[in-house]
Amino acid sequence: MSKYKILIEPDPILRQKCEPIDIVDDELRKLMRGMLETMYKAPGIGLAAIQLGILKRVVVIDISKDSEKKNPLFLVNPEITFKSKKTSTFEEGCLSLPGQYAEIERPAECHLQYLDFHGKKKEIKADGLLSTCIQHEVDHLNGVLFIDYLSKLKKDMIIKKLKKHKKEVKRVVV
Ligand code: NI
Repeated sequence: MSKYKILIEPDPILRQKCEPIDIVDDELRKLMRGMLETMYKAPGIGLAAIQLGILKRVVVIDISKDSEKKNPLFLVNPEITFKSKKTSTFEEGCLSLPGQYAEIERPAECHLQYLDFHGKKKEIKADGLLSTCIQHEVDHLNGVLFIDYLSKLKKDMIIKKLKKHKKEVKRVVV
């Protein structure tokens, strides 16, 4: 059992803005390993620390389809420095919005600056699924969820469903 619990919307913590990391040390690496393990178990392809109630600018991503060949990406203080005018649309989901999916249009390409697992400054140019995943995760660090891009009607409907689901889960536990 992972010691981390993924927060489910609606939760005010998910709407907070996360603090930058000062130093990439063993303690942070331990957190990142724990986040990755939690993400794989969920399973998901991206997870931000805020989804575990930790208000730090840390993200883990692994979009590799082959579970044998894992390819984790650790992003500390990720900063998007470029977004293309060209857009692409993916059907997005989120570990904090279980069972909910919606088509979201985002810039097709983005450039990202970040510190890696060892605190080394890196830059990547992403497109396709990785670009969408990066933008989704960086949104989390600013308290933004993919449903914020939907109409109020659609967004309210999803939140209503999640609230109902939360109640049902509680009922089972009792
Ligand atoms: Ni998410």
